[in-house]
Amino acid sequence: MSEELGQIVIGEEEIKKRIKELSEQISKDYKDKDLMLVGILRGAIIFLADLSREIKAPVEIDFMAVSSYGSSTKTSGVVRILKDLDEDIKGRDVLIVEDIVDTGLTLKYLIKNLKSRKPASLKVCALLRKKIEQQMSIDIDYCGFEVPNKFLVGYGLDWDEKYRNLPYICALKSGSRNS
Ligand code: IMP
Ligand code: MG
Repeated sequence: MSEELGQIVIGEEEIKKRIKELSEQISKDYKDKDLMLVGILRGAIIFLADLSREIKAPVEIDFMAVSSYGSSTKTSGVVRILKDLDEDIKGRDVLIVEDIVDTGLTLKYLIKNLKSRKPASLKVCALLRKKIEQQMSIDIDYCGFEVPNKFLVGYGLDWDEKYRNLPYICALKSGSRNS
């Protein structure tokens, strides 16, 4: 294990169990709906891959990429679309699948943007939500875990594009980010 990595915050089995619970709820809620999962690249890919395979309802999958963080861990406060959806979502039941909500800036922007395309419904599923006071108020319809305000990596989350492939979620050791 790299020296940059700190303690495990959420283990592999815990993630699996929670994804089963979330997907059971989603399967029920979207039983007779026209579900389109919109994964937010790149952090959500691992979560989306595992979640979608547990959902017992027909799903379609599309992706968007937005930037709010550069290669550093500080938010720039600006959200830009780097890759738009390939599909038209008008009249579809859209579920945004996101890795982590920090300030909420990214999601706030995405919700406003996707709503303007007139989906039949728009909900949010986020694996992690940081417990911070300055978070924008956003309804997260399906939330995996509330996590402390630390910089986390693994299970899709990166630091400078590293550690996305870890099967668990862990904290970066403080100080590592400044190097
Ligand atoms: P927000 O716009 O501040 O809510 O930030 C959301 C985005 O920042 C997420 O989609 C992640 O890509 C990234 N992010 C926020 N916190 C972390 C973290 O602890 N580790 C890795 N990426 C993070
Ligand atoms: Mg992201």
